[in-house]
Amino acid sequence: MKEALIAPSILSANFARLGEEVDQVLASGADWVHFDVMDNHFVPNLTIGPMVCEALRKHGVSAPIDVHLMIEPVDRIIPDFVAAGATYITFHPEASPHIDRTLQLIRSEGCKAGLVFNPATPLTYLEHVIDKLDMILLMSVNPGFGGQSFIPSSLEKLRKVRQRIDASGRDIRLEIDGGVKIDNIAAIREAGADTFVAGSAIFGAAKEDDPNRYDSVIAKMRSQLAAADG
Ligand code: DX5
Ligand code: ZN
Repeated sequence: MKEALIAPSILSANFARLGEEVDQVLASGADWVHFDVMDNHFVPNLTIGPMVCEALRKHGVSAPIDVHLMIEPVDRIIPDFVAAGATYITFHPEASPHIDRTLQLIRSEGCKAGLVFNPATPLTYLEHVIDKLDMILLMSVNPGFGGQSFIPSSLEKLRKVRQRIDASGRDIRLEIDGGVKIDNIAAIREAGADTFVAGSAIFGAAKEDDPNRYDSVIAKMRSQLAAADG
């Protein structure tokens, strides 16, 4: 299995000082920046768009930015996110009438592409497009908000996707998003995930005035991951 990567979701960061938050979480050992885009239409919340992604790049963020689109439609805004410095762009199959075309669009613009599965979205969407995927993202909560509880049946779904990726022999990351905490990350790793989004568990864990405020939670997640890998 691939090396485990930690992708803090900035949805739970302090937006009033986002650049500093991202710098500190990366300095604490996070691997990626998970960037949640919501439109008050596909999901009942409204967040950030390409201008904020571009602002993070201009601020000096060089880590991969993992853009999770919870918007509908998706094609119009994809080139804007590519220009803004996105590394990965993932979308929900329900949000595009032409999934294959959207995946090709993301890749043709030079980004890595992924499909996101809600807890009740069937994996059948994988059948004809697995050759066009760099990542599969499984939602372990219903999208829209941080701080929800991990849905236990996500572990069984993860195992199924792990098997499909391994059987395909392809270079596809398997990401999990929602309710990931220090106390369940090992079980999630054992079920086959290699990329771990965590919002409230990371950004909610620290005191405002501590410059190293994210060191401890990320170190604890890493040691749980190492234990899971034996
Ligand atoms: C939910 C978002 C998540 C969210 C996860 O719709 O896609 O990325 O920030 O937050 P936690 O880790 O708090 O469940
Ligand atoms: Zn997300």
